[in-house]
Amino acid sequence: MGWGDLGVFGQPSKETPNLDRMAAEGMLFPNFYTANPLCSPSRAALLTGRLPVRNGFYTTNGHGRNAYTPQEIVGGIAQDEVLLPEMLRKASYVSKIVGKWHLGHRPGFLPLEHGFDEWFGSPNCHFGPYNNSDRPNIPVYKNSQMVGRYYEEFGINLKTGESNLTQIYLEESLVFIRSQATTHQPFFLYWAVDATHAPVYASKGFLGKSQRGRYGDAVMELDHGVGVILGELRSLGLAEDTFVFFTSDNGAALISAPMQGGSNGPFLCGKQTTFEGGMREPAIAWWPGHIPAGTVSHQLGTVMDLFTTSLTLAGLATPGDRIIDGLDLTSVLLNSTLIDRPIFYYRGNVLMAVRLGMYKAHYWTWTNSMEEFKKGINFCPGEEVVGVTTHEQKEHTMQPLIFNLGWDPGEKYPISVLSPEYQTALQQITPVLEQHQKHLLPGVPQLNMCDLAVMVRRGGAVCHTHTHTHRHMVLYLRGDRPFPSMGKNPNPIVGTFDFHNVKYTSITHTHTHTHPPQSPPPAQFSLYPQLSLHPHLPSTPSDISANVFFFSKSWSTGKIGALQEFSALLQ
Ligand SMILES: *[C@@H]1O[C@H](CO)[C@@H](O)[C@H](O)[C@H]1NC(C)=O
Repeated sequence: MGWGDLGVFGQPSKETPNLDRMAAEGMLFPNFYTANPLCSPSRAALLTGRLPVRNGFYTTNGHGRNAYTPQEIVGGIAQDEVLLPEMLRKASYVSKIVGKWHLGHRPGFLPLEHGFDEWFGSPNCHFGPYNNSDRPNIPVYKNSQMVGRYYEEFGINLKTGESNLTQIYLEESLVFIRSQATTHQPFFLYWAVDATHAPVYASKGFLGKSQRGRYGDAVMELDHGVGVILGELRSLGLAEDTFVFFTSDNGAALISAPMQGGSNGPFLCGKQTTFEGGMREPAIAWWPGHIPAGTVSHQLGTVMDLFTTSLTLAGLATPGDRIIDGLDLTSVLLNSTLIDRPIFYYRGNVLMAVRLGMYKAHYWTWTNSMEEFKKGINFCPGEEVVGVTTHEQKEHTMQPLIFNLGWDPGEKYPISVLSPEYQTALQQITPVLEQHQKHLLPGVPQLNMCDLAVMVRRGGAVCHTHTHTHRHMVLYLRGDRPFPSMGKNPNPIVGTFDFHNVKYTSITHTHTHTHPPQSPPPAQFSLYPQLSLHPHLPSTPSDISANVFFFSKSWSTGKIGALQEFSALLQ
């Protein structure tokens, strides 16, 4: 969702009465940012209070590439990262995530293994495979049990855009809130809905209601959901005890514009970029009786501040053994103070830009490659700014492009390097940049599998080395129970595999992708973990009578590792 999607931020259709009212009853933040212009790293930052470059949610496989967790990902949130719900547990909070997780889907990376007590939703986004012939549809979980899949048990009609998911996610949240109200236990609810992500969807009551098309319908349904949740808190008498914050994990995706794209208001470009449209987010804080109603804070805030602020509100200290990027905003919220602080804009481990006060300095500019752009992938439709929205990665380290976001929020007019204003801005920002880089100890990159995780792939420089062919092998365990549905297409799996008597046949397809030179992962693969957790799967290797979908990367060199890993997962 984008900054410009809310009525209170000027969306002309004015179709978000509940969020607008939330702002009228609370505090609006026009200068609030996410930590990365893409979903997974932003969510990792929100829950750890740390920049993705510190918490490991990035890749070094391509310079300046954003990375996320697709269904094939091997990595996920590192065990030694401390997540907000893990901290809150120390103060007896019960935590639930409803919706999209996106921090890894293999065992060890799921929400219940990182501090959440309850989960209803999916490890991935619903845009994933749709009855694809070789990848299962994305699973939906209730806690640690898979309860179905998008498009199958949890319908999304791609033709009409109808889906009941937002309503289901709303109901799951209400049930949780009511149950916490009954037991009088403090709670943390992370309502991570994804209806505004293409393919956008809405339930029948909202479809066709917006002047902005189906994307607007989805926004209206999310707005409605927020209204219902706030109403529930009020009627349970919890409103004055509950801090609520609304924001988004990246700017509106203009590649899906105009039909499914959303609005970033006056800001340049969208999702995937470190221009304002990619990272500045709508943000509203609400806490009746504590946060003064109808206020606007010009504080520069980030999603990472929600980690630190929430801990303070729960009476907890932030972890002292690591750098936390989030600030405690309680004085901003309660006393309308302002804290001077910079904003860092990263793609991967490349610091693209720094904002300090009204000045924003770009050290690198890039939208996407010319090759992709020529194919029609445009992160800045209708907004080409010569020398700014570049299609090659342009370094400006020696002489950054500087904008004054006060009079030029759209980043269209770089300040002349010859002007006194440029020199003043540079003198202010340079020491902040140097200080940041001096203390930066990048975390181990968790998203380095050089394949679908890297956005956008196959663009020449993705892993900038050789291209070669790998075999992907899909094995089908022989058994007497039916394989969980993969949708309407016939099961493509042709091999058989006997666990005790290792026999396998058949390679389903080959395809070409690239690897970084230094680390061709010989046996990286992903067993779609949703299946290993499927209730029908046997829990012991001896009871291997079920069907398992197995996906091996670079099978030709990775047989042994793959088989070992497979048996480990079953035990
Ligand atoms: C949504 O729920 C309604 C009522 O239960 C049902 O008729 C409809 O088919 C559902 N829509 C989808 C897309 O699953």
